[in-house]
Amino acid sequence: MGAHSHDNIDWDAHLDRLRAADDFIAPDITQVIGRLLRPGDRSVIEIGAGAGGTAAIIAKTLASRGDGGRLTVVDTAEQLLNAAGERATGAAGGVEIRTVRADAADDTLAEEIEKAGATPQADLVYAAFVVHHLPDQLAGLRRLARLVKPGGRLAVVEFGLQTRVLPADIGLGEPGLEARLLNASEQWFQQMRAEMDGSVRLPMGWAKAMTEAGLTEATSFSYLIDRPAPLDDLGRAAAIRQLGMLRRDADERLPAADVEILDQLLDPGSEHYAGNRDDLHYLSANTVHIGTKPA
Ligand SMILES: C[S@@+](CC[C@H](N)C(=O)[O-])C[C@H]1O[C@@H](n2cnc3c(N)ncnc32)[C@H](O)[C@@H]1O
Repeated sequence: MGAHSHDNIDWDAHLDRLRAADDFIAPDITQVIGRLLRPGDRSVIEIGAGAGGTAAIIAKTLASRGDGGRLTVVDTAEQLLNAAGERATGAAGGVEIRTVRADAADDTLAEEIEKAGATPQADLVYAAFVVHHLPDQLAGLRRLARLVKPGGRLAVVEFGLQTRVLPADIGLGEPGLEARLLNASEQWFQQMRAEMDGSVRLPMGWAKAMTEAGLTEATSFSYLIDRPAPLDDLGRAAAIRQLGMLRRDADERLPAADVEILDQLLDPGSEHYAGNRDDLHYLSANTVHIGTKPA
């Protein structure tokens, strides 16, 4: 059996959702990558690339600088990996793109990258929303730090503030529905982490964890995904996807009345379908944590 994730999630089944999300946030991620890639950076390893939207932006940014460049994409999910490889290859000429099916929770990560014919060190190692899917996140950071060239940087993107798409009072049920949904989602997240085999807590902030992982100059910045109401079709679809994510085991965690309303918001046949509302917005803040490998 090949590499697999540890979180009980079939990531390949999320291809369409991840692809749509990539398209929605492409302008924001283009800015993040522009800010992260330093002028001399020629090589990048991306861990847990999803459908490859960011990989394509990295490849394009490297290509725009001329002089080649190298991008290695690592993931446990085979279909996602293929999709990411294709998307990155299609986005940029002259940049060497490699895909490696490997597990970021396995200490053989660097060897697996090397075995696949790619260089196991890069100027920038980028991992967005994947370290929290590893049983031992600090061990994960240490493993990723080993993939960074001396003088290079590890960038880990994690949640900043929870995504908001609904008005505080949607006119159905009790006000504050979204806050209750987000609370349930946080419980789901903690359970997902607790149920991983070998799950270890990370009782510290990310910048401190970067330092613990042997990196220096730990710093962070956050970026907003800020799409005010009224949303266009892309934004509305993103808001519906977000509500769909909040439906995930809502039955077990929320009052039946809230679940019923959420189902109406998600049902295109319902008079209360959220896709027909002109007061949805999309506001999210994510944080990029950066550490430097001592030269
Ligand atoms: C939440 S998605 C994030 C995708 C993308 N980075 C983004 O920001 O949209 C998590 C990604 O990490 C991958 N993944 C999960 N566990 C992994 C592991 N142990 N090693 C490598 N990749 C993993 C999944 O297959 C998926 O591509």
